Amino acid sequence: MIGLSSLHSIIKWTLVLCFLVFCIHYWLLKKSYLTSDIEIAKISEKYVGKDIKQAYSMITLDLQKAFPGHILGEEDQRWLFMNAGGWMGSVCILHASLTEYILFFGTAINTSGNSGRYWANISDTILTGSFRQWKEGELKSTIHKPELSLPFLFKGDTVLHVWGEVTAVEWEAGTWMVEYARGFIPSTLGFALADTLFSTTDLVNLFNILVIYTKALQLEFFAYIFEWREYIKDSL
Ligand SMILES: *[C@@H]1O[C@H](CO)[C@@H](O)[C@H](O)[C@H]1NC(C)=O
Ligand SMILES: *[C@@H]1O[C@H](CO)[C@@H](O)[C@H](O)[C@H]1NC(C)=O
Repeated sequence: MIGLSSLHSIIKWTLVLCFLVFCIHYWLLKKSYLTSDIEIAKISEKYVGKDIKQAYSMITLDLQKAFPGHILGEEDQRWLFMNAGGWMGSVCILHASLTEYILFFGTAINTSGNSGRYWANISDTILTGSFRQWKEGELKSTIHKPELSLPFLFKGDTVLHVWGEVTAVEWEAGTWMVEYARGFIPSTLGFALADTLFSTTDLVNLFNILVIYTKALQLEFFAYIFEWREYIKDSL
């Protein structure tokens, strides 16, 4: 039997949790952001059709120019394996805060699984390969890939994954994309790391991902302090 006092404390903590979720949600809708899915797609689409390594290094340069002080240094731009929802890919984090991230993601093998259900909107601009998405409740899947619109000119394709949604995902070998997320990023870590923690048990990989995320948060913290210092200097 659950005692009256423990019932009381369950109710109390549920209310506290609901209040926290409400506050974070309100903050997400009101706060200002570093960038947007449209801006990241615009930068990425310029390099669709190029050799993938070249495309990634040019996108990195563009991002460094557009968001100085917010992109991780070259020594921290590392490709790390990522196992989640049954699929396996590789990820290179460029920017991450509590509410946004920008990263390169892709796979060199055919892989598929569950997209995960997030408290974040995620957009993927496909540079090469293809991305098949099967939405819950539908009886067929949709395939996304960049298309040749004029001779030598590709039209980019950006796939949106709205918060709360879940889909089945399938990437063909050689699919490489630029991903932008906006939402409560720490909430996505549970899904992102569960397969590593409980399936592959690759603790080295888990450690590396957490180190890079911590470094990205550190960078944001310093950028924030710097902006405040400038702001105070300007208003004196
Ligand atoms: C990967 O998927 C593509 C497209 O669906 C298919 O043509 C190819 O044979 C697959 N490759 C392997 C190794 O299964
Ligand atoms: C996520 O996308 C939905 C649907 O487009 C939108 O209503 C919501 O404001 C977005 N959330 C954030 C944090 O931008």
